[in-house]
Amino acid sequence: MARIGLTGLGTMGAALALNMADNGFDVAVHNRSNDKVDAFMESAGDLATRLTPAYELNDLVAALEAPRAVIIMVQAGAAVDSVIDELVPLLDKGDLIIDAGNADFNDTRRRTQALEELGLGFLGMGVSGGEEGARHGPSIMVGGKRESFEAIEDIVSAIAAKYRKDPCADWLGPDGAGHFVKTVHNGIEYADMQLIAEVYGLLRAGGRGMGEMAELFADWNEGPLQSYLIEITAKILASRDAETGEPMVDVIVDSAGQKGTGRWTVIEALKLGQSATTIEAAVAARSWSAGKAMRKDAEKAYPHGKDNTAEILDADLETALFAARIIGYGQGMALLAAASEHFDWSLDLARVAEIWRAGCIIRSSLLDDIASAIRAGIPHGQLILAPAFVERLSAGVPALRRVVAASVHHGLPVPALSSALSYFDTVRRGRGTADLIQAQRDYFGRHGFERIDRPGTGFHGPWAE
Ligand code: 6PG
Repeated sequence: MARIGLTGLGTMGAALALNMADNGFDVAVHNRSNDKVDAFMESAGDLATRLTPAYELNDLVAALEAPRAVIIMVQAGAAVDSVIDELVPLLDKGDLIIDAGNADFNDTRRRTQALEELGLGFLGMGVSGGEEGARHGPSIMVGGKRESFEAIEDIVSAIAAKYRKDPCADWLGPDGAGHFVKTVHNGIEYADMQLIAEVYGLLRAGGRGMGEMAELFADWNEGPLQSYLIEITAKILASRDAETGEPMVDVIVDSAGQKGTGRWTVIEALKLGQSATTIEAAVAARSWSAGKAMRKDAEKAYPHGKDNTAEILDADLETALFAARIIGYGQGMALLAAASEHFDWSLDLARVAEIWRAGCIIRSSLLDDIASAIRAGIPHGQLILAPAFVERLSAGVPALRRVVAASVHHGLPVPALSSALSYFDTVRRGRGTADLIQAQRDYFGRHGFERIDRPGTGFHGPWAE
């Protein structure tokens, strides 16, 4: 009998099944199209002895030890509901369904409630690290009932990436907590990718060759910016297209795809009265990038002069990127704190940072420092107020300011870098400009305001008379 089942042998599902088999677990595997099951079994090599192919869902269920555990790894949305609907009549009370895709956490909350009412367990499990991670060690963010997690904890810990022997996998909270954390992980991923792309854009505008840029990113990867995304950027910039011999990036259309997790992060942030502006800028930039034809016409309508980045120093770019990255992570962490409070999840944010230290796409040397800072306690849940980060940002923001100022001056787009800076400049002022907003609201709508010189609310200005 197999210890666990998996349905959905796409790239991620197949890699996860092989990872489990590689770690000594017997796995039953299923896919809607039988060809994929056969192809997967053929590709499994020696691991095939630990894998049981199933051509129908009831064969998958029949191949499992009780209480059963079935991982679903299909496209987020309606496909997950349809697999759940097919699975439910085949399962018994006490069995467990695990959605390992990038689900909208609102769906996960709904599914958790519906399945728990039927006596079934349900876990929403975020898995990060792409195909390579899923095969050899992803970061795994689990939400649902703790007992449900305990039923598969040994498997999850075994297959996860390890940071100094600590598995990058954990139960984070009830119902949608795991998928919410994965969504925000992806939001931070969007921000980080956009920040890197903007810096690449500035270097390119300065006439730098791909090889030179690749070396610069590789150098930066030895310093405070050390991270998976910087590492792969260096490798990407050094790659050439086999067909044309051109730098690979030069033959790729500059229109970015997005499956939705970045947008969900922004939507949920707004619903919670938060605003993760670095992530918002990254989502916006992807959407703008998709309008290639429009941008070409806009370039004709508003021709720009020759690009000039003469005053931007490489060292400033490195430091600016680091400062903006801290601000982006900080906004993501603040969003997690707000969601945890709103949904009563008691998220351990330090643990979240710890399980992001290896395996996932945003893994970086910074995350160990973030985890330590959160463990030590951060004022107002704001990473940028942690003493270690106050020091880093105080040192880094002047470079961010120089880079943004020069970019704005020369008309070079830096939406994420400038959003990070604007956020920083806003929150570092104890007195802002919302006094005027309050006055305007009171003027046209008698909304009332608070006064600085006495307690109470609902005061009005002289215009009220
Ligand atoms: C990960 C990635 C993974 C995937 C995203 C990309 O953590 O392994 O984030 O989940 O690459 O779905 O999303 P976009 O297609 O929206 O860029």
